[in-house]
Amino acid sequence: MNNVVVSLDIGSSKISVVIAEINKKQFNIIGVGTSECKGVKKGVIVDIDATVEAIRNSVEMAQQMSNIQVKSAFVNIKGGYTTVIDSKGVVAVSREDKEITQEDVNRVIQAAKVVALPPDKEIIDIIPKQFIIDGYDEIRDPIGMVGVRLEVDAKLISASTTNVQNIIRTVQKAGLSVDGIIIEPLGTSAIVLNEDEKELGVALVDIGAETMDISVFRKKKLIFSKVIPVGGNHITNDISVLCKVTFNDAEKIKRQYGVANSKLVKSEETIKINNIAGKGEKEIYLTDIAEIMEARISEMLYIIKNELEKNSLIGYLGAGIVITGGGLFNIRGIQETAQNHFELPVRFGYPNYIGVANPTYSASAGIAMYVLKQKRTSTVTAENKKTIKYKDSLNEETASTTEKEDDELKFGWLERIKEFFADFF
Ligand SMILES: Nc1ncnc2c1ncn2[C@@H]1O[C@H](COP(=O)(O)OP(=O)(O)OP(=O)(O)O)[C@@H](O)[C@H]1O
Ligand SMILES: [Mg+2]
Repeated sequence: MNNVVVSLDIGSSKISVVIAEINKKQFNIIGVGTSECKGVKKGVIVDIDATVEAIRNSVEMAQQMSNIQVKSAFVNIKGGYTTVIDSKGVVAVSREDKEITQEDVNRVIQAAKVVALPPDKEIIDIIPKQFIIDGYDEIRDPIGMVGVRLEVDAKLISASTTNVQNIIRTVQKAGLSVDGIIIEPLGTSAIVLNEDEKELGVALVDIGAETMDISVFRKKKLIFSKVIPVGGNHITNDISVLCKVTFNDAEKIKRQYGVANSKLVKSEETIKINNIAGKGEKEIYLTDIAEIMEARISEMLYIIKNELEKNSLIGYLGAGIVITGGGLFNIRGIQETAQNHFELPVRFGYPNYIGVANPTYSASAGIAMYVLKQKRTSTVTAENKKTIKYKDSLNEETASTTEKEDDELKFGWLERIKEFFADFF
């Protein structure tokens, strides 16, 4: 078993777990699990116990599907909840013969991490951009080269200590260790965007249950990220309040009859729904629902456009806008509405892989792909001593392997950083 990654999307409506592998250069999803979660608000953990339970449930599902026991995972953090800082590290090469070793690289990276941060912030990741040996720059792998002075230019990613510590504590309480905290749009973009879009300029908007994470990529770099605390649940809430139905009924109505444009429903159409007080049923006009949804969706699209305009980003969006996440994805008429609103090409993207072909998996599947590309892996063991192979459709057990695999699938720092000169910043 090789190159296996486990990723966890701590979303405002659900926890998703994806177990993925690279096998013969092919990215495969081998386990998936999702569990509703009430412990996260606007992408931030507010109830550790509720989140722990949802993580355990979703991990259990993914484990059963893949026959793999999960010991660690990569976890998401919303792009807008992080800050990127440029940093430089400098060390003297330690060996007498001046050959640069892994230890020198580790030391210089540690040196780059020494920056003054506000007390409520901490570093969650470091992305080396280039090494410089005695003034010669653009070196990707300095090990084995000779020099006196080794420098690194790096990007440090920082986030709120409270947020980060709660993520780590929650995941650990669920029985897993944290392999890394990954900026969500870097993951999502790996699976939802294509290289041309990232090069030309594109806004990736992940509209979830309670947030819209707006990110802009240009020349393959992430140049902007912001979280807006509005999402698909606001549409449901509007229907619930204005039509006086429960949140669950409003969610059902939204999914079944929802439209982005009220012109798409006929004025006389009605549906019957339980009264909120539980006494009998009442009739609701679909035009009312359509108008409620149209108003909220217009507001969401307006906020996105306004953010892009305010930050002078519209001119960079040669490839237009790619929307993902569950919030607006399946709503009838949304494509045309969004296209008219932005006056730019709009596409709805999701992971095009069996098992996760749904926009709510964009973050979890994307993070798995992103970290696998960097040759980072999670710690897992094969759960079953016995791997059963089936012969065609006969379901006949033909062979089994009895080796219990328990390989530690960790790559060292060097392996990791060789692949780690992210295109992204
Ligand atoms: N078929 C559907 N039609 C309309 N909305 C849907 C549909 N399926 C899911 N949604 C909405 O998608 C949202 C959940 O999307 P998603 O899983 O991307 O959010 P999340 O990742 O949990 O939240 P966030 O990213 O905001 O933290 C909910 O608001 C839900 O109502
Ligand atoms: Mg999400």
